[in-house]
Parts: sequence; C-alpha cells; structure tokens
Amino acid sequence: MKLRESWGSHLGFLMATAGSAVGLGSLWKFPYVTGENGGGIFVLAYLLFTFIIGVPIFIAELIVGRKAERSPVDAFGELPPVQRNWSLLGWSCSLSAFLILSYYIVVAGWTVNYAFLSLLNFTKGKTSAEISGVFDVLYKSADINLFWTTLFLLFTLGIVYKGVRKGIEFWSKVLMPLLFAILIILFLYSMTLSGFGEAFSFIFKPDVSKFKPSGLLEALGLACFTLSVGMGVLVTYGSYMRKSEDIPKTAVTVASIDIFVSLLASLMIFPIIFTFNFAPTEGTGLLFKAMPALFAKLPGTIILSTIFFLLVVFAALTSAISVMEVLVATAMEKFGWSREKSAGIVGAATLILAIPSALSGSETLFHNWPLMFGKNFFETIDYFSFTWLLPINAALMALFAGWAIEKSSWKQEWVQGTRWHWIFNPWIFLIRWVVPVGVLLIMLQQGGIINIDKFFLKG
Ligand code: PFF
Repeated sequence: MKLRESWGSHLGFLMATAGSAVGLGSLWKFPYVTGENGGGIFVLAYLLFTFIIGVPIFIAELIVGRKAERSPVDAFGELPPVQRNWSLLGWSCSLSAFLILSYYIVVAGWTVNYAFLSLLNFTKGKTSAEISGVFDVLYKSADINLFWTTLFLLFTLGIVYKGVRKGIEFWSKVLMPLLFAILIILFLYSMTLSGFGEAFSFIFKPDVSKFKPSGLLEALGLACFTLSVGMGVLVTYGSYMRKSEDIPKTAVTVASIDIFVSLLASLMIFPIIFTFNFAPTEGTGLLFKAMPALFAKLPGTIILSTIFFLLVVFAALTSAISVMEVLVATAMEKFGWSREKSAGIVGAATLILAIPSALSGSETLFHNWPLMFGKNFFETIDYFSFTWLLPINAALMALFAGWAIEKSSWKQEWVQGTRWHWIFNPWIFLIRWVVPVGVLLIMLQQGGIINIDKFFLKG
C-alpha cells in the first residue's frame, strides 16, 4: 500500500495551518465587519469566541484527522464506534469546501487584478470617485473576471498538484514569512499617520452605545470562518501530521497568529481611513474601493498599493490551497485516483462552478437568477455555505467529538504529543455544551428565525 503523505517538518505544518487560517477573512472581512459593528466590544467578543468556540473545534478536527489518517469522508465514517452515517458529515465538509472554493477564487482573482493594476499606477490622475468606480467596472466585466478567477485557480492548482511537502508545505514556508514581513512594514507605516491614535481607540475601546447583540453572533461566525473550521481542512491537514505534534498547542498558536494578523490588518487599515476622513463603515468595498483611493493620496503609491495587494493575494492563496486539498485528498481516497488526476478533475469542476459566480456582476449568465432567488449566484452560494453549511458542519463536528466518540478513546489520542493534559477536561466541556449551543444560535439568527437584537432590546 502506498504510504500516506506527511508533513516534512513541524515548521512546515505550522505555516500551512496558519496559512489556511490567515486569509481574506482576516484581511478583508475582519476589518470591515469590525467597522460596521463599531469596534471595541465586537473585537472583544471575537477574541473570546475564537478561544472558546473556534479553538475547541479546531482541536477536534486535527485530532479526528490524525487519529483516522483519512480525509473527512472516511475519517468521520470510520473512526470507532463505526457508524457509517457520520461519513455524511465528511461529504458535507467536501460540499462546503467545493462551494466556498468556487467563489473564494473569484474574490481572490480581484486581489490579483488589483495587485496588477497597482503596479500600473492605475490611480494616477483620477479622483477618488473614479478610483472607486474601477471596482464597479471590474465587477460588471464578465471576461475580465473570468480571466483573473482562472488565473488564481491555476496558481492554487499548481501548488496542490505538487503534493503535501513539495507543494503546500514548500509554498506556505515561502509565502507566510513574506506575508508577515509585508504586514509589519505596512503597519509601521500606518503608525506614522495622524489617524493612528483614533484607530487604536476605535478598535480597542469598548463603546457600549455602538454595540448590538447580533454583533456577538457575527463575531462568532467570523471566529469560526477565520480559523478555517467546519470544512474539514483541519481534518485533512491533521491526517498528514505526526503523532509527536502537540495539537492543543498548535491550535492556540495558530489562533494567536490569526488574531494577531486580523488586529494588525485593522491597525493598518483604520489609521488610513481616519486620517483621510473616510467612514469605517465602508463595508465590503473597503478593500477594493477605499484602499486604492486612499493609497493614491499617500507618497509612494505604487509601492504601497502593490505590496498591500500582494499581501492579500498571498493570504488568499495559502487559504485556497487548503480548501482545494480537502477535495483532492477526498477524490484520491474515494476514487483511487492519482494526485495529478484528482487535482485536474477537481480544478476543472471548480472552474465550472466558479463561472456563474465570476459572471454574477455582469449578469451574462443566469440573468434572471436574482429575480427568482433575491440574490445573484455569487451571493446565493455565499449565503448558503456560510449561513447554513458551515455552522451545521461545525455543530455536527462538536457533537461527533463530544458525544459520538467515547471519552476514553479520545483521551488516548488527545494526550499524545502534548504536555497540556489539563486542557482536556475544559475542552470536553466546551465541545459538548458551549460549541453546539453557540453555533445553533448563529444559525438561527443568520437564518432570520430569531432576532436576538429584539429579544435583548425589548427587554
Ligand atoms: N480562514 C480563511 C480566511 O480567513 O480567509 C478562509 C477559510 C479557509 C475558511 C478555509 C474556511 C476554510 F476551510
């Protein structure tokens, strides 16, 4: 039997896992959602949920992967006590990975487009409104969107095709240090701006008047998403792990890196926003509309803007490869294909599903989709996977880890490689009770079934 691939070094495994966590979620979504929720308390909630909800699921996924040495479908289906039905959870992880990858690469394609545009100094001689307008042109251009989406997919595929050590691990070890270096340079630059103090207190000073209870649930969803839990990525990465790796310590380290990057990204973006009197509530356009307009006002535009968007490209790439690896590993295992064949087929299938998302803004395909479903294709996939699939997977994983597997057999696997034995009991408590209830609440709120704001405010 062919030996399963494995990580070459501890550092490589850590960089790959951190690479999966640090992505568009930390650099794009965290800053704008923080802005919309008034900073302060929202950030505190995000920190709390990362540790009491995200990290426990993260640990559970890695342990399931390492114990089973399988990708999600077989891992959930074959761990004793064997209950084949749990393999459905593995299929659901693969489905979420497929859906999310198909539009993550569209957004990632925009970041490559902007890195390239920045190099061409595209903001020169344009007003702020004209610069922001470039994004609207991109969004509506079918061919340009397809071009960048395909290009980004090829980058991702090129890495995954090479395998765990030569592809994922090698590139994570190259890209992650570069990403940290760029982030720190940009952060130091932001510190010199007059808006830094205002940005600092916006992010760290709790302001109760701006706080909404539903922000708590948003913080919870974001904490799970930025840590990459709920798609089987960590089951897959865990299956390449050695028994001597310290799982709880890895989880806490990756969560800390992820938080550090999210905060640093905000501490870099908000000073620029405050210095030039933009609103922190700029929303999803913050990255593609406001940032280029702001860079245009600063000295060294080309360099600043290009390295900023390169940073985002690198972050998106190390996340996208982790999502694609779930699919490739599953195809290799379930259909017995070689890595090359699996990568080719997964790549082609992803591109087919990405086409309607990439063309959503141009309305050249599925023209009537928004009329029928209220959202365009891209938004529909986003909504369906984030609001429903990911939380359902996360809750089921918690149930699987907390209840379906016997506590004693868990503990054996759990304590291997770690010196933090004392975390086991708090972990079991969180995974059995806190995680399922927390995740259920997000789902009900996001799905509009409960409205926690009304519940508290009427109070
Ligand atoms: N954690 C990534 C980010 O913050 O952008 C996104 C992501 C990757 C989510 C992988 C989920 C996942 F399984």
